Amino acid sequence: MSSFHINLHEAIYSLSDALDLVGVTHIHHGKRVAYIAAEIAKQCGWLQGQMDELFQAAILHDSGVSKTSVHARLAQFEWENEQEHCNLGAALMESCDLLRPLSNLIRYHHTHWDQLQGLAIDYNEKIAANCIYLADRIDISCLIARGSSGNLLLTKDEVSARIFERRGSWFEPRLVDGFAKAASSEGFWFALEGEHVSGYVSRWIFDAETVELDFQQLRNLVRVFSRIVDAKSAFTREHSEGVAALARYLGEMFELPERTCEMLELAGLLHDLGKLRVPDELLEKNGKLTQLEYADVQRHSFDTYNILKDIHGLEEVALWAGQHHERIDGSGYPYHRKKEEISFESRIIAVADVFQALAQTRPYRGPLPPLEILRILKDHAKSGKLDAEIVNRIESQLEQCHKVALTTELKL
Ligand SMILES: [Fe+2]
Ligand SMILES: [Fe+2]
Ligand SMILES: [Fe+2]
Repeated sequence: MSSFHINLHEAIYSLSDALDLVGVTHIHHGKRVAYIAAEIAKQCGWLQGQMDELFQAAILHDSGVSKTSVHARLAQFEWENEQEHCNLGAALMESCDLLRPLSNLIRYHHTHWDQLQGLAIDYNEKIAANCIYLADRIDISCLIARGSSGNLLLTKDEVSARIFERRGSWFEPRLVDGFAKAASSEGFWFALEGEHVSGYVSRWIFDAETVELDFQQLRNLVRVFSRIVDAKSAFTREHSEGVAALARYLGEMFELPERTCEMLELAGLLHDLGKLRVPDELLEKNGKLTQLEYADVQRHSFDTYNILKDIHGLEEVALWAGQHHERIDGSGYPYHRKKEEISFESRIIAVADVFQALAQTRPYRGPLPPLEILRILKDHAKSGKLDAEIVNRIESQLEQCHKVALTTELKL
């Protein structure tokens, strides 16, 4: 098992970009919440260590939301079943050692302060969870209030009033006082604009140190995000897991180095990250997509690459994942690369992606049996779409490849 040098903040930041995409047009919510929470915490005199956890949790606080339809509800001040996305997000954090300390902060990020006080969890966790709740409701209030004026500065009184009303009941009083202090400067509001908030968050990355993660730790982190993608639609459940397992298996069949096989697994897990931006109904549509809908779906591999490309240490993974819809004859997207311009690893991901999708149910057809999958892959190879060498190799191990593609648990 090899090790990877990763800046954890950078990885969390990039991966949270994917979460932000679920907002479709209401993007950067996670980053704004992190900014607001950090500014309030600063006013309250928090220590650096506490701030770090708060920042990470704030950036990831809506990780329980994969569906664009659920995201639309986040834009209301109160909604039914709010707790569901908190529990889902907390469970995701629990599944990864590196993120586990954030789980209570996310589980309780919609719990009113008057209920939270009585819970038997650490006091610092309560305060941090409530700080995220406060920051989250501030951002949503801005969104609601902005509808009428279009200018953030003009909305500040309306937003503040909504928050102050809930001092002590929804929100811990000192946090609200911290917000009042921060909010008294115009700069606080101006900085909520997209480009400023991204800059604020980048500085946080800059300050972080690179850590050494072994493959298993990195994979567990990456799986948090592939699970979010796979949770988007019942049809794609475990699609990324299956593509990852098959891509690795193919790498092993070609006797590629162990590290390459590990990276193939990561690229498989991450290849559809950009799909978080695709409206749910398009993934569930039983029928042909319109031209406009197809254009929305098509941009996902481009988004995948963009999300991953800035994580130092994962550059190749970004490339392989981002090229999974390129085709040997140049008919793929988004760059129409031809065979010699597409790495062998990308071609493996492309074949694994098609194989796994054919093995799963889709809204318009049932799962296909191995021989039918092979027939389709061979057609694609013959017409110059998929790599013939890889497809031929699959033929020699067809049953095993099918089993691996439908695996639900990657080997530990
Ligand atoms: Fe939120
Ligand atoms: Fe895809
Ligand atoms: Fe895919």
